[in-house]
Order: sequence, then C-alpha cells, then structure tokens
Amino acid sequence: MTYQDELPLMMSATRWTHVQRVADTAAALARHWQLSESEAHQAGLLHDCAKQLSPALVYAQGLNQPTWSEPLYVTYAPVWHAFVGPYIAKQKWGIKNRSVLSAMQWHSTGRAAMRDLDKLLFVADYIEPGRSFPTREIVENFAYQDLNLGAYAVAFLKLFFLVRDHRTIHPDTYKCREFYIRTLPESRLKQVHDALWPFLVS
Ligand SMILES: [Fe+2]
Ligand SMILES: [Fe+2]
Repeated sequence: MTYQDELPLMMSATRWTHVQRVADTAAALARHWQLSESEAHQAGLLHDCAKQLSPALVYAQGLNQPTWSEPLYVTYAPVWHAFVGPYIAKQKWGIKNRSVLSAMQWHSTGRAAMRDLDKLLFVADYIEPGRSFPTREIVENFAYQDLNLGAYAVAFLKLFFLVRDHRTIHPDTYKCREFYIRTLPESRLKQVHDALWPFLVS
C-alpha cells in the first residue's frame, strides 16, 4: 500500500485532515520560497505518521525502532512520534529522501541550524488553517516575510506555553530558540516579540 493510502488508516479522521492541511500549507510555503513543493508536500503528509503509535504498537506491527525510542517515550511522549516517524516511513514505504526524513524528525521540537525544509514543516504544522489560536496569522505573516522569523516565532511560542503549563521541554526546543537568539539581529527578534506579546500577556 502507498503511504497516501495507508496513512488515513493509521490515524483518526481529524488527524488526517490536519495532516492534509499541513501538507498543503508546507507546499504553499515551498512555492513562495522556491523550495521543492513535492518534498514539502510529502513531508507534510508523513510528518505525523507515528502520532497514534507507541513503542509497544511499533513492535506489535513487526517494525524496528531505535534503542532510545522507549526512554524518549517515557520522558518526552508528545515529541516521540516526530523522532520515530522517519524510522516508520523508511520501513513501511521505503522513504529515503534525507530532507523529508529530517523535516519529519524536527517538526515538533525544532533544533539549532535547521535545514530549509525543517523550518518549513516546523512552521507549517503550527500555522495550518485548522489552528484556531490568535497568533496563527502573525506567525504566518512572519513565515512569508522571512522563514527564519517564522521558525523563531514558533519556537518562542512553543516554549512560552510549555513553561506556562509546567510541561517537560525537549532540549532541542531550547537549542532551536537559542540558535535564533544568536543568529538573528536584535531588531528582528524585537519585531517578533512586539507582535506576539500582546496576545500572551492579556
Ligand atoms: Fe506532530
Ligand atoms: Fe502535526
């Protein structure tokens, strides 16, 4: 079975509509930034392929996973699917495109020095039109202005809410934000903060 046929069987109908919107959003951003639309769309469709799995279900399907899968699931369950997704995509559908696999891996946490497709999917997952939070449109505007600003805005917002809600935070999310703090001009960082703060302090 192709991944296009099998993916909807691996997740809820709601999750599948999210996945399709992420793929379309990623393809539109790729078109804007003259990156590969087909890679962006494929990464979008595949990004949550492990979302409704667990280490036990991966074994139950006769699939392999790396040794860090179970400890990662125990400590950082919400981001586990992003790290294991590429292993599932390789084994089930023979996906070998390194840009696609990398974007899948980093779509949830982000990381320092992301590739273009990593940034694109990291942002697309956050701004797909089904997201109803008020900062969605602001992040989208930044992403169309400068993909780095869009990615920084996503990392900033993710950290804000994880801290506020006393959740565990994967180290790569900190590294992602710190990378932009080090590499983006102060004036650009301020532009993002000024646009987002009114929504966060109200
Ligand atoms: Fe995800
Ligand atoms: Fe997603």
